[in-house]
Amino acid sequence: MTVDRREEWERRHRGMTAGAPEASVVEAIPVLPCGRALDIAAGTGRNSFSLARAGFSVVAVDYSAPALQAIARASRAENLKIEPVMADLDTGLPFRANRFEAVLNVNFLERKLVPELIRVLKPGGALLFDTFLDDEVGVGHLRDPRFALGHYELRELLGDMELRRYREGLVEYPGGRRAWRAMALAFRR
Ligand SMILES: C[S@@+](CC[C@H](N)C(=O)[O-])C[C@H]1O[C@@H](n2cnc3c(N)ncnc32)[C@H](O)[C@@H]1O
Repeated sequence: MTVDRREEWERRHRGMTAGAPEASVVEAIPVLPCGRALDIAAGTGRNSFSLARAGFSVVAVDYSAPALQAIARASRAENLKIEPVMADLDTGLPFRANRFEAVLNVNFLERKLVPELIRVLKPGGALLFDTFLDDEVGVGHLRDPRFALGHYELRELLGDMELRRYREGLVEYPGGRRAWRAMALAFRR
């Protein structure tokens, strides 16, 4: 983690509240095993809120203090079960194995964390992974190719998991914005 990147995220998050959830999260909720969920790099929590409103008890991890404060305020106001946790994801995940029914990884890519995401899932638990493809670098706001997936890389990263949904391509959002993305919904065996 560089302090500059963290400060940049904190600056972006100041005064922000959660926006609309990623469509793949809304789409996956009916097939996720309900219980405890982990949302990594949660930002101001748009996807955490979607899970919590569906009955999940959510742990939302990020290293940005303003983002976590926004989650704490809004979840209190709605009386939702979301626990904000500050952690630097460059150093792994501060949770024991087999703890969560579901894990979300949206708009974030730290390849060495993937075995950790699987480790904290219970057997039968689900990982939803949805982030940018390298086609998006320099087209949208993503500038650094390290934070973008190559084609079919996500399928390889998820190795032994049971893949139930997988897609790569151009996603269109309400309002006309488009982005190149890869999405996988995979279950731990
Ligand atoms: C593009 S935002 C995605 C937020 C959220 N997942 C979403 O889809 O709206 C990336 C998030 O990753 C967090 N982040 C980046 N590097 C991190 C690190 N090393 N440890 C913890 N959080 C990190 C940032 O603070 C930011 O909230």
